[in-house]
Amino acid sequence: MCGIVGYIGNNNIKKQLLDGLKELEYRGYDSAGFSILKDGEIYSYKAVGKITNLAQKAKDFEIDGEALGIAHTRWATHGKPTEINAHPHFAEFSAVVHNGIIENYQSIKQKLQKEGIEFLSQTDTETIVKLFEYHLKNDSFEAFKQTINELHGAYAILLLTKKEPDTMFFAKMGSPLLIAKNDDEIFFASSDAPVIGKAKEVIYLEDGDYGYIKDKKIHLFRDNKEINLSWTTLPQNKEFAKKEGFRFFMEKEIYEQSSVLQETLMGRIDENGIYFEEIDKDFFEGIRDITICACGTSYHAGMVGSYLIQRNARIKTNVEIGSEFRYKNPILNKDTLFIVISQSGETADTLEALKMAKNAGLKTLAICNVDNSSIVRLANKTLLTRAGIEKGVASTKAFATQVMVLWLLANYLGNKNENNIIMQVSKVCKVNDKLHEKIKRLSKRYLHGHGFFFIGRDVFYPLALEGALKLKEISYLHAEGYPAGEMKHGPIALADPELYTIALLSKNLLFEKTKSNIEELSSRDSTILTISSQEIETTDDFIKINSTNHYMLEFYEMMVITQLLAMEISIRLGNDVDMPRNLAKSVTVE
Ligand code: M6R
Repeated sequence: MCGIVGYIGNNNIKKQLLDGLKELEYRGYDSAGFSILKDGEIYSYKAVGKITNLAQKAKDFEIDGEALGIAHTRWATHGKPTEINAHPHFAEFSAVVHNGIIENYQSIKQKLQKEGIEFLSQTDTETIVKLFEYHLKNDSFEAFKQTINELHGAYAILLLTKKEPDTMFFAKMGSPLLIAKNDDEIFFASSDAPVIGKAKEVIYLEDGDYGYIKDKKIHLFRDNKEINLSWTTLPQNKEFAKKEGFRFFMEKEIYEQSSVLQETLMGRIDENGIYFEEIDKDFFEGIRDITICACGTSYHAGMVGSYLIQRNARIKTNVEIGSEFRYKNPILNKDTLFIVISQSGETADTLEALKMAKNAGLKTLAICNVDNSSIVRLANKTLLTRAGIEKGVASTKAFATQVMVLWLLANYLGNKNENNIIMQVSKVCKVNDKLHEKIKRLSKRYLHGHGFFFIGRDVFYPLALEGALKLKEISYLHAEGYPAGEMKHGPIALADPELYTIALLSKNLLFEKTKSNIEELSSRDSTILTISSQEIETTDDFIKINSTNHYMLEFYEMMVITQLLAMEISIRLGNDVDMPRNLAKSVTVE
């Protein structure tokens, strides 16, 4: 995920910017850069890869005295991780760094291109600085205001221009940005981490805030009026700051799902259609069926994908576990599209399966979160999930975005338009404080017993598998996912009050059938927690979701609940939520 740093002062500005970027490394990035404005000149450096590459490139660049600087780490979402796409972005005499998504960047870009303005990068960010100079006649602040008024979407922006050698412009909407200060220095950052230990006081900007700093005087505007600055003391715990106030990275990542899903959709959907600029439609020509191959959580996403692709595109879709597929001497037909799913892009079993398919001449497609990973480099085509770095070993936002990409693909292949539903998913995944409180309270009832059954039908079956996997990974309690209709074929023998059932009951898919399965367990005295929009009398606990008219909206709401439940149980048991025993984030061995 991208990060921003800004500095105004005279204490070794290059070092200040690079130190700040280093503190943001934990967020993940694939390129970095900075610009420094001093005596009317802008000096810029960018590099792909680690911040050490950037430091190396700028090693001979020395600058003393008072200056203004902006810096950025970029996690590629729109456009490859190249030096050209790295921030800052430039127009003729200005530079900008930006976090967030400019949703209407294509229409702005087209308008500017018609005026003869040329673009170098594939990013939405470049439109900001080009639009700024387009508007700039006499008054730079007016031009900056006009620019941000035209932007739709989310942004945290820092902008420098040679036309105003002592000024830095800033704006915030939907993406975090703070100003911090010391006696004689001013800092900007997208989170606390870069300024802890350097600054004493902070202002966390609010959505809609904008302004400029000229000669070190801060002018902050809210609702178009300049307001007084109200500083608060900066917290001093760095580890806490990296988690952005959340107790664990997993919790932060659960809360982030709503915003990363917007990134997954960016540029890929509007009311009329679905677009994958990474793939030409003819890539799918001649495909008769699909095999999806993955491990763990990614395999569960693949299972959801198989239901969606079969239902919406009517293409036969088979799902394989990487470690099994490799050794079963699989029949590989050239008219099968082979899809691999992986958060890390490095999972050995998935990678080997991909090699086999590719060597057999199948078309291969990776759905992956990490650009330039081994799987991405090997596959013919890639759809990036754009979840940002995932630190919690128990995967959450990666799963949410994998399912989203598969859903888009299912509709793309089947020419289906569920776009207005898809666009509601981000809202559905926003964690509601009251609900989280309820789950926290409820979790204390589920700390013992001899195991958990997660049950569901259709796409709620792989969600049940995923809910059970989350719980066992971080609570070390035994949990299994089952198709609800399968209980009577054996597992129900385990039912008793100490066997907890988490029932995923959709209103929109097989409601009556699933309800009967829940009742079968209830009459054997299993303790049941139902997650549904419909309360049924025969269960012990109930978590209510919104009553929506599409099963995938229910799916995403239930997904967040199962993740929070697993996490709260794990916290109560005193486990390390982010680094559970025996597990690694990236499984690069067989
Ligand atoms: O990086 P990948 O998606 O290929 O990883 C696959 C599994 O190792 C991974 O999903 C694992 O199951 C997670 N710990 C689940 O939370």
